[in-house]
Amino acid sequence: MTTTTGTTTTDTTTTTTTTTRTVLFDEIGGPEVLKIHDVELATTPGPGEVLVRVDALGLNRAEALFRSGGYYYQPTLPGSRLGYEAAGTVEQIGDGVTEFAAGDTVFTGPGIEMSAQGVYAERVVLPESALVPRPAEVDAVTGAAAWLTYTTAYGGMIETGGLRPGDHVLITGASSGVGTAAIQVARRIGAVPVATTRTEAKKQQLLDLGAAHVIVTDGGNVEGTVKETKRFTDGRGVELIFDAIGGPDFRPLAEALIPEGGTVVAYGWLDPRPAELPRMADLKIHFYANSTLTTTPAGRRRSTAFLNQGLRDGAFRPPIAEVFDGLDRIQDAHRLMESNTHTGKIVVKL
Ligand SMILES: NC(=O)c1ccc[n+]([C@@H]2O[C@H](COP(=O)([O-])OP(=O)(O)OC[C@H]3O[C@@H](n4cnc5c(N)ncnc54)[C@H](OP(=O)(O)O)[C@@H]3O)[C@@H](O)[C@H]2O)c1
Repeated sequence: MTTTTGTTTTDTTTTTTTTTRTVLFDEIGGPEVLKIHDVELATTPGPGEVLVRVDALGLNRAEALFRSGGYYYQPTLPGSRLGYEAAGTVEQIGDGVTEFAAGDTVFTGPGIEMSAQGVYAERVVLPESALVPRPAEVDAVTGAAAWLTYTTAYGGMIETGGLRPGDHVLITGASSGVGTAAIQVARRIGAVPVATTRTEAKKQQLLDLGAAHVIVTDGGNVEGTVKETKRFTDGRGVELIFDAIGGPDFRPLAEALIPEGGTVVAYGWLDPRPAELPRMADLKIHFYANSTLTTTPAGRRRSTAFLNQGLRDGAFRPPIAEVFDGLDRIQDAHRLMESNTHTGKIVVKL
């Protein structure tokens, strides 16, 4: 709910402010630190800015890490905002905005700094560059589950990893939001996705999503994962490892690659323990950051075209683990994420 709370007039402009329910946290900690506040925001966005009504927001592991102090940058406390990804509708645009108009449906994401711009709120004001067009036929819950995962899978596996039709790709942590998207992205281009999970109960879901083979890892036994990958690929190994986990398994897992010129794309560090580099002669290792792709005009154009075409023609159907109703359920949504029992995305519908 939004209520107009005040009007400030200067010599040249009139700014009307309102309050909007927003999730903030004052200290590093568990889901319980997330609290809802009425935060003031300008109903007339500034030059180059857009006022967006948030219809649904998608959770990412990044936000649990940011909230608990384990992300690659630290929150500004107290009063940090949270969240990268939402599906929303443009309510107003500021001067100079050219790509969007009131009523347009959008994804949020590119270039967002969470403490200042986090999207866990009923309304947000963002720079135009932090929005991407969402096809009108993509509903808010599907949209909130789509942007970050499919663009990361596309940028990491195809642009950076060079995945090609007929290649095999080993996707670790495959029940994650990004992992489930990676299975569909690999299938989309005719590659063969091999998936890992620590959870036997997720195996059938991953097969249903398109995994050609699922290896249940039990959280250790990396030698077993390598052996099973080789068996499934008739002894050859995979052309690409798309790795969400890192940690001590990072080095031995590379043995699952083809011996001649395999590639590892490391995009997540779910295992916080130190990793060693693999000892192989002919090997490429890339560390992938989605912001590098999606904040450049050309990268934005390519990743958006790939995402929206897949959503329109039905190739990309993000699995939704659970939809929570209303911002008041944000702590429960974070608890579910940290339980690791989910497959795919956790969404909060506003
Ligand atoms: N580089 C980038 O631009 C970029 C973009 C997006 C995400 N990421 C990173 O990608 C990773 C996945 O993010 P997400 O939001 O997709 O994850 P998510 O949906 O929260 O899923 C994570 C899944 O991985 C498995 N997992 C969790 N901890 C693990 C561990 N220590 N070892 C092995 N498996 C573990 C769990 O499944 P099982 O227990 O069933 O195996 C869990 O369900 C995170 O590290 C995130 O920061 C990076």
